Amino acid sequence: MLSKEIRKKFLEFFKSKGHEIVPSDSLVRGTDPTILFTSAGMNQFKEQFLGHNVTYKRAASSQKCLRTADLDKVGETPSHHTFFEMLGNFSFGDYFKKEAILWAWEFMTKVLGIKEEKLLVSVYEDDKESYEIWRNLIKVPEKKIMKFGAKENFWPSNAPKAGPNGPCGPCSEIFYDGGNNNLVEVWNLVFTQFDRKEGGRLDPLPNKNIDTGMGLERVTAVMQGVKTNFETDLFAPIIEELKKYSSKLKTKSLNTIADHIRAVTFAIAGGVAPSNEERGYVIRKLIRRAYLFVKAEKPFLYNIVPKVVEIMKDTYPELLQKREGISLIVKEEEERFRHTLSMAMPNLTEGLKSAKGNVLGGEKIFKLVDTYGLPLEVIENEAGKRKIKLDIAEFNELMEKRKALSRKKSKIADSIFGPGISKKDAPEKVKNIAKNHTATHLLQSALRKVLGEHVHQAGSLVVEDRLRFDFTHMKKMTEREIEKVEAIVNDYIKRGVNIKKVEKPLDEARKEGAIALFGEKYADKVTVVSAGDFSKEVCGGTHVDNTKDIGLFKIRGESSVASGVRRIEAYTAGRARKWMEDNEKKKRETEKSHKRKEKEKHALKQKLKIAEENIGLIIKKAKDIKGVKVIIEEVKNADLGILRSLADRIKEKEKSSFIMLGSKDKGRANLVLGLSEDLVSKGANASDMIKPMAKIVGGSGGGRLDFAQAGGKEPSKLSKVFKIAENIATDIIEGVSK
Ligand code: ALA
Repeated sequence: MLSKEIRKKFLEFFKSKGHEIVPSDSLVRGTDPTILFTSAGMNQFKEQFLGHNVTYKRAASSQKCLRTADLDKVGETPSHHTFFEMLGNFSFGDYFKKEAILWAWEFMTKVLGIKEEKLLVSVYEDDKESYEIWRNLIKVPEKKIMKFGAKENFWPSNAPKAGPNGPCGPCSEIFYDGGNNNLVEVWNLVFTQFDRKEGGRLDPLPNKNIDTGMGLERVTAVMQGVKTNFETDLFAPIIEELKKYSSKLKTKSLNTIADHIRAVTFAIAGGVAPSNEERGYVIRKLIRRAYLFVKAEKPFLYNIVPKVVEIMKDTYPELLQKREGISLIVKEEEERFRHTLSMAMPNLTEGLKSAKGNVLGGEKIFKLVDTYGLPLEVIENEAGKRKIKLDIAEFNELMEKRKALSRKKSKIADSIFGPGISKKDAPEKVKNIAKNHTATHLLQSALRKVLGEHVHQAGSLVVEDRLRFDFTHMKKMTEREIEKVEAIVNDYIKRGVNIKKVEKPLDEARKEGAIALFGEKYADKVTVVSAGDFSKEVCGGTHVDNTKDIGLFKIRGESSVASGVRRIEAYTAGRARKWMEDNEKKKRETEKSHKRKEKEKHALKQKLKIAEENIGLIIKKAKDIKGVKVIIEEVKNADLGILRSLADRIKEKEKSSFIMLGSKDKGRANLVLGLSEDLVSKGANASDMIKPMAKIVGGSGGGRLDFAQAGGKEPSKLSKVFKIAENIATDIIEGVSK
């Protein structure tokens, strides 16, 4: 039975039992803001379990999930994954244990036709009710009903003792016996009846609920009679594809890579880009882990994305249109990682060589990680090969120190009385920094609104006269997007909302959806800075009291920092106003100079037009010497350009001609001399002829055989030149015709 059919049969079965079929929630930033990735089918129903918003009482879904808790088991066991699909049925204050157990059994044994003797079950040690249902109603032999404690049979695992808070309850599990001691937990039935409160108090929920989860990959392996999930139709084609790119990989490696590329494909489709924070970091880590198995010469993982899409596209058609984009992001991340590795590997080799007594010191590890950007696991891996131990304790200590230092540094940057700032003007500077800082928060919120929830801070600079914000986003922003973001921030400013600062535990802040930087170590109690309902961030910096104080927000530029990371530079308040004014001024000046140029062009055209009209007249006045038209004329107000084009036009009309045109223009004399081909071929040289004339008008000149020009500072000498020209013309025409 294909995985596709199992998914379908599951939903159809529960539909026939009166369940609303609910689509998979988004894998990334779904309904529940307290989690990085959706990790169970019940995440999108938390409110309903608490008794709120119950519009239907029964639901069933196939939910995309991602869990990193089991990362170390992936590839090591036949049935652990990061990304997987969870089939689940839910009851919100409707049916309870009996129906949940009966239907699960019916689906397994009747719909899927799994043999009863292959199945075992477990119950929570204190849950007599479930035990009796299994024994008396289903007739499972007693020796096949296992009793476990809260670690195994409470969901979330060990919740009464360890949390998390929220809906939870005892559970009962169904296992498949694959032989050879290979028991696989296939289906978890949770009897969600408590709301865990701080300190471990279990308050009964207003209603008793059902939350179940069956791993699609596991039940598919059972149905397809294979030993591991990686041999099912969900994985096998991916592994085949992988083999094309690396023939030497061991099964474990192949399985791990196949797992990771599925997770990466779905997470990126959900809007996550590889980065150093939160979700982005999970994806970066998965890509790096997969890449390291192969130690490829060039990126290869991205080639596998289309195969994942092909397998999943019928269920998740949205993958299809994102396929190329996902491949591209994976490829770029692989390239970046390869670059990091190739730059840092020589340092690593050297570092390992220098290890004293087969232990690499924390300081050296720290340098490799901090300066060269090498992931710790690469160092561990290489060291392991050479049987060198790492002083991880010392390394961790240094890492802590650096974090503390950078926290202190960023506090200093935020906080103001830096060198060179006098006490007198300090308050002004503080205020300006605060304006830019609060504006940065508003900007992040606006970016998420306009571009999407995948936008995360990748870097930021807040100084007195400007702000800079780097964030994850794949494409260049359009003008329209930039305008929108700017308008939203300015709207926030206009609304005049007070900035609130509240101290609370980090956990609580995260639960409320406050933005916090991943990888950053925060104190247990943090300050949450919020502006109305549009911005909430964990932040220790200086802010304005009211958004109105920012005055104005203006984006001066948007650019690329690295692939998948964009940068916005912006101004606030007076600086924004000044920038706008300067811009206006520049615009006006450009317009002005543009207008002037237009005017000049127009004047020239006019002149040319008038001169053109004169061509006829000029030609009419020409003297004819032995069939050669001798034209010697002064043109009013013409510069050299006009004279040149006139001479050309006349030459076109009069194939045998001697053309001397002159003008007095702006206190100077201009001269051009054009000779027709026949005169040139008989030895006449315009360039030679014009030189003495140029001297007469107090200047210089020259050109080619058939055309020359000159200019001089004595326009009054023009008539003298014309006389000479006439003589020369007569001479050459008479001469050449002799
Ligand atoms: N929410 C339960 C689980 O994830 C069904 O196992």
